[in-house]
Amino acid sequence: MKKDNSQFIELIKSQKSNFPLDQSFYTDPNIYRNDLETFFYNQWIFIGHESQIKNIGDYFLFEVGNESIIVIRDKNQKINCFFNVCRHRGSQICLEKKGKVKKLVCPYHAWSYNLNGDLISARMMNDEFEKKDWGLNKCKSKIFEGLIFINLSDDPDDFKEFINPIKKFIELHGLNRAKVAFKKTYPTDGNWKLTLDNFHECYHCLPAHPEYCHVHSKDYIQAYGAGNNTGPESIKFSKKLNLWNKKTEKLGYLTGEYSDFNFSNFFRSAERTPFDGDRLSETKDGKPGSILMGQFKEFDGGYTTVGTSPFNSFIMSNDFAAIFTFIPRGPLKTDVEIMWLVHEDAEEGKDYDLNKLIWMWDKTTIADKKIIENNQKGVMSKKYVPGPLSEMEIGLEKLKKWYLKHLEIKLKNTI
Ligand code: FES
Ligand SMILES: [Fe+2]
Repeated sequence: MKKDNSQFIELIKSQKSNFPLDQSFYTDPNIYRNDLETFFYNQWIFIGHESQIKNIGDYFLFEVGNESIIVIRDKNQKINCFFNVCRHRGSQICLEKKGKVKKLVCPYHAWSYNLNGDLISARMMNDEFEKKDWGLNKCKSKIFEGLIFINLSDDPDDFKEFINPIKKFIELHGLNRAKVAFKKTYPTDGNWKLTLDNFHECYHCLPAHPEYCHVHSKDYIQAYGAGNNTGPESIKFSKKLNLWNKKTEKLGYLTGEYSDFNFSNFFRSAERTPFDGDRLSETKDGKPGSILMGQFKEFDGGYTTVGTSPFNSFIMSNDFAAIFTFIPRGPLKTDVEIMWLVHEDAEEGKDYDLNKLIWMWDKTTIADKKIIENNQKGVMSKKYVPGPLSEMEIGLEKLKKWYLKHLEIKLKNTI
């Protein structure tokens, strides 16, 4: 095992700056398994919105790798997250992806748990058996602004430390008073890193995303298309941003940006930027897609993007939000999930048209799925060698460095 680790460390060290990763990082099942443990299971991940389980006993499952998490509302309206593993002989308890229950009853031998996870009935056990010792295992979770985050680690990073620098960007949008307008999964035949590589650069936006380029200017795409500090500065866009910042501050709304520059377990970024021209929202005609949310009393002509980890991005207009979750499903498979949130009082057909709301990100994500799948096919060839990155792929390079450094630290510690 020691020998394997040192070979892997050599492989990590051999990765070149400003080039993508070697083939094995995008294909190898052992690297994939290690990735899940090191990254996905070790981050605070947004998995859903509290409006999805409005009533007592409502639940949904969040599944990744070998883990299945029951997210359920208890009698005190608290949301609990439990590992979907019976404490008797380990059967999964909830088999349906979502539902409503009075209690959680294991389908195998009918041990039953209340909505707090306490074991409340187990037949024919001996006198020494104490029900109180056999409650469901809790998964670490936090509700922030109506957003449900979990962390699968036994020793997670402090949630406050995690959320603090990006908190105000999310709070601006009032997601605690939102509802899910639409949710869609885009199963993508590509390794999670290849999928995220694509999301962390906007070099491909011009050739691949006519809808995105219709909404966003060339100058924005160059400098901010994949987030702040991910592309060469555009003087034209910087001027526009400065003017907009002044105007928006006068209106009393947040401006600015955040990025994790020092290496840590976190990979966060956030920024507020103006739309092109007189657009108000990330819709085809630039007109509002729904009613205003959060602190907004009028449209400020800008929008907010927040990356909470590599696995979640929040893209928020003044009137709706699209939240991305990237879930690794295997060495060559990733689910990209998008949840569109609108104000809880917004009525479909009256206040928003669903097609208008989802238009840009739906079309763009369908195009991305195709690009990533083509990329994965090429990367599998014996002739794939990593090629040089452009000036517009700094975001991808940043993610790769963060990824490799983590692997290296973890492996050194286990030698
Ligand atoms: S495994 Fe659940 S009751 Fe036996
Ligand atoms: Fe894309």
